[in-house]
Amino acid sequence: MENKILTAVFISGKGTNLKKLIQLSKTKKSPIKICLIISSNSKAEGLKYSIKYKIKKYVIKKNDKDSEIKILKKLEINKISFICLAGYMRILSKKFIKNFKGKIINIHPSLLPKYKGLNTHRRVLENNELYTGCTVHFVSRKLDSGKIILQKKIKIYKKDNIKKLNKRVLLEEHKIYPKAILKIFS
Ligand code: GRF
Repeated sequence: MENKILTAVFISGKGTNLKKLIQLSKTKKSPIKICLIISSNSKAEGLKYSIKYKIKKYVIKKNDKDSEIKILKKLEINKISFICLAGYMRILSKKFIKNFKGKIINIHPSLLPKYKGLNTHRRVLENNELYTGCTVHFVSRKLDSGKIILQKKIKIYKKDNIKKLNKRVLLEEHKIYPKAILKIFS
């Protein structure tokens, strides 16, 4: 695909979803090209993909009150017009989200609108749910509430614990995140 959409991925941790998005971005059919990784954590494991795939990175300093202004600058310099949040642990301001309306997506490890926020697997297990899942959605001003793009339902087994569930849900996240991007731009 010519004229790919220049994309930034925001991370804070392992970056396993980031890796899958980079792999998609390397394919011919991909509508996006990942050219910037933003991390809210200087020790994020996912930053290794910046080196491996020669993608620019920008790490936000702890307690930096102007971090969003600096991020916006980086996005502008790199002509970024699409943002994928992948385990990004900071809340973006309403102003930032408005600026990029319809151009920020996120992956969440639950069947939204159920279990917004953190510790989803623990809460799902505590409530003896029969199913959980993962969701790719547009980012709106309300946390984990924007329009759903793609969802995968996952059965919960009696022997499941947080670790097992996390592993199985993550495997599905890796499949639906690239799929959701193809869907948006198809
Ligand atoms: C994923 O479970 C994602 O749904 C959540 O944070 C986790 C990030 O994992 N928002 P990784 O950094 O992509 O491995």
